[in-house]
Amino acid sequence: MLDRTSNQPVLPPEIARRRTFAIISHPDAGKTTLTEKFLLFGGAIQMAGQVRAKGEARRTRSDFMQMEKDRGISVSASAMSFDYRDFRFNLVDTPGHSDFSEDTYRTLTAVDAAIMVIDGAKGVESQTRKLFEVCRLRDLPILTFCNKMDRESRDTFEIIDEIQENLAIDVTPASWPIGVGRDFVGCYDMLRDRLELMDRADRNRVAESIKIEGLDDPKLAEHVPAHLLDQLKEEVEMARELLPPFEAQAFLDGTLTPIWFGSAINSFGVKELMDGIGEFGPQPQVTSAEPRQIAPDETKVSGFVFKVQANMDPKHRDRVAFVRLSSGHFNRGMKLTHVRSKKPMAISSPVLFLASDRELAEEAWAGDIIGIPNHGQLRIGDTLTEGEALRVTGIPSFAPELLQNCRAGDPMKAKHLDKALMQFAEEGAAKVFKPMLGSGFIVGVVGQLQFEVLASRIEMEYGLPVRFEPSQFTSARWVSGPKDKVEKFVSSNKGHIAHDNDGDIVYMTRLQWDIDRIERDHPDLKLTATKEMM
Ligand code: G4P
Repeated sequence: MLDRTSNQPVLPPEIARRRTFAIISHPDAGKTTLTEKFLLFGGAIQMAGQVRAKGEARRTRSDFMQMEKDRGISVSASAMSFDYRDFRFNLVDTPGHSDFSEDTYRTLTAVDAAIMVIDGAKGVESQTRKLFEVCRLRDLPILTFCNKMDRESRDTFEIIDEIQENLAIDVTPASWPIGVGRDFVGCYDMLRDRLELMDRADRNRVAESIKIEGLDDPKLAEHVPAHLLDQLKEEVEMARELLPPFEAQAFLDGTLTPIWFGSAINSFGVKELMDGIGEFGPQPQVTSAEPRQIAPDETKVSGFVFKVQANMDPKHRDRVAFVRLSSGHFNRGMKLTHVRSKKPMAISSPVLFLASDRELAEEAWAGDIIGIPNHGQLRIGDTLTEGEALRVTGIPSFAPELLQNCRAGDPMKAKHLDKALMQFAEEGAAKVFKPMLGSGFIVGVVGQLQFEVLASRIEMEYGLPVRFEPSQFTSARWVSGPKDKVEKFVSSNKGHIAHDNDGDIVYMTRLQWDIDRIERDHPDLKLTATKEMM
């Protein structure tokens, strides 16, 4: 059944109130600040600054977090749940640095929408564009927040044009800024005909919003200086003429993004954005799976692992698998089937990630993210169900763009390297290839920084210094095809063959020409740059 006003299916209220989303942005645009204000208005923290403070405390526990701090990037992703009005928000954090794009891609498979934060003075930056492209691949609905309006920023039309042209998406203003920089007084709410004024005196307070009856309401002049009011009227009129109106379906299809203007640090525009996610944002969506897709309102519980984080607590070698629930009502202690191994798993200590801490999840619903501590059984791409053999699809593994040989700095400890690398491979932090000929490992990543993070984590978590050295290969492709043909190919190309951490066969080379030639000479074989995680 469809709700006639929103065209969304009618879901049980507990599921319908859930909004699971991520924030994407170029570093420094204000993602952390905005997250913090979300938590503040969601009642999850009492004062701004707590998230950062907690962040610091966590970082001191491990060296690689120190690297994160030094470089101002976020290498680990986590999930946070909090209530806002009648909604339950699940905010999934994404690493901002492009070297971790694979992790980000997988994280985005677990959300139903994304908020794109841009800096009002800088517009669409390189990382915004890359992350946006990933959202586009999944047709994710996108809400845009143009931040730092309290500073000198670009002309509003120019910002909107840039998004439309650069990202090929229609933009509709949900609010319109009044004045710029020091003259910025607030926004006109285009969707609700209200005036929202910024309180510069208290950064954590939201000034009262003023209900007005359209742009000719005399009340406007009481709050907005005359020259800004004339400009506002003119601009809003132009915007209504030139820009598309808000249309729920186009937004849900990912072809239209509403934009809010604000200042996260001043808490301005944040609540309107949160209202927007709640009111227009998609409810938990259908999950693609084989042999059939999974609807959120199915009574049986199912979910999939989109991220594994190891050694969250260095004292215990535990791993936490982040599971997005695709359907049903989960209760603590439930037995779910781990579809890949066909084994039952009692989920006795699932965690919900609340901003203040992790907490035992007594129950959870479709759309929620729960963490399941485990000893390595759960891998990225795994599906959990109440017994049915469903496999969630669309969680890819990308061929690495950089390959390097990895050697233990201390030959006495070489055998530990195997274990360490496998663990990081399962976490999705790197691809690990064992060449058929010769010893050692070849490690593949998407960005150079991942090598540095790996080296420091292996040393930190396993007490094992390692060296990364240039490899003779630069590309890797997964090989598939009829068994006999693959075997024949492997035996005549041993010097180029390796097995990945799942045991799958990989062809490595430094020449694209080789790959083209094999595809031409062996039409039965497929060389692919992505592999479905399963
Ligand atoms: P990120 O997570 O996207 O990397 O950005 P983050 O929130 O850390 O913000 C980057 C910088 O921009 C921070 O300044 C932050 O205070 C500032 N900022 C965020 N929102 C606004 C805003 O609405 N207006 C203005 N003027 N600045 C904003 P910083 O100096 O790097 O850090 P801090 O010392 O302020 O913490």
